[in-house]
Amino acid sequence: MKITVVGVGAVGATCADNIARKELATELVLLDIKEGVAEGKAQDLMQTASLLGFDTTITGSTNDYTKTANSDVVVITSGLPRKPGMTREELIGVNAGIVKGVCENILKHSPNTIIVVISNPMDTMTYLALQSTGLPKNKIIGMGGALDSARFKYQLSTTLGCSPSDLNAAVIGGHGDTTMIPLIRFATWNSAPVTKYLSSEQQEKVVADTMVGGATLTKLIGTSAWYAPGAAGAAVVESIVRDEKKLIPCCVALDGEYGQKDICLGVPVIIGRNGWEKIVDFGLNEEEQALFNKSADAVRSMNDVLKTL
Ligand code: LAC
Repeated sequence: MKITVVGVGAVGATCADNIARKELATELVLLDIKEGVAEGKAQDLMQTASLLGFDTTITGSTNDYTKTANSDVVVITSGLPRKPGMTREELIGVNAGIVKGVCENILKHSPNTIIVVISNPMDTMTYLALQSTGLPKNKIIGMGGALDSARFKYQLSTTLGCSPSDLNAAVIGGHGDTTMIPLIRFATWNSAPVTKYLSSEQQEKVVADTMVGGATLTKLIGTSAWYAPGAAGAAVVESIVRDEKKLIPCCVALDGEYGQKDICLGVPVIIGRNGWEKIVDFGLNEEEQALFNKSADAVRSMNDVLKTL
């Protein structure tokens, strides 16, 4: 199994670290445009191999895509991260050009790869990856929902005083402060509905805090978060390479599912060796569907910006 991570800033490097620790690949290639950075981080990670006990060969390359040839999975994290006060959407102008170039280069050397998109604004970058590669839709996966659902579980766990691992909770819709939809009605604490244990004020706060989860960290740290985004990317990769068939909310191309088409948006999907293999219909109520449609409208107008670039 060969995996490539493109863009090894904090998110990409953390994702690579998780991929190595989990031994998801025999070969892991890091690629970055900054001279020497991917080579340096690859060496740094390789020097943890004997300490952590993994058996993955990690190499780095400055922008030489021939090194990525025949990758089974490529994770794209390229582009600028958010600064405090910035929305993910404000990054579109710069990041669209970067991500398009990365996709074209990747495809030249790995025409059958599966692409996991982390770059922001993630829903639009996933749509762009689909368009610029022409790959079958099942091979393009945006990881936003995996991250947002982990943040939702964190918020629920601190409010309930329980283990995050005992929770099942999904965030669908866009990966944006105002477009994501934490589905609290479906969230369970080891199979009991969390709504049974939380007041409506508590539920509203958990949902609101989840939605601004990334922005809260950007304010505290001064740039985008990386531990959870990197781990979320690796969790998606793990379900692909181990063919786990995990049900993970991810951003995928919709063709009428959840009432939307010609858009990539977060929905619950089964992830396995073929990429995303099936969209699972949760059966949204009217209010949830209205939120989903509103989220789609916002993401669609962001996608329209691509035409003007
Ligand atoms: C975040 C960025 C990675 O949500 O989108 O932290």
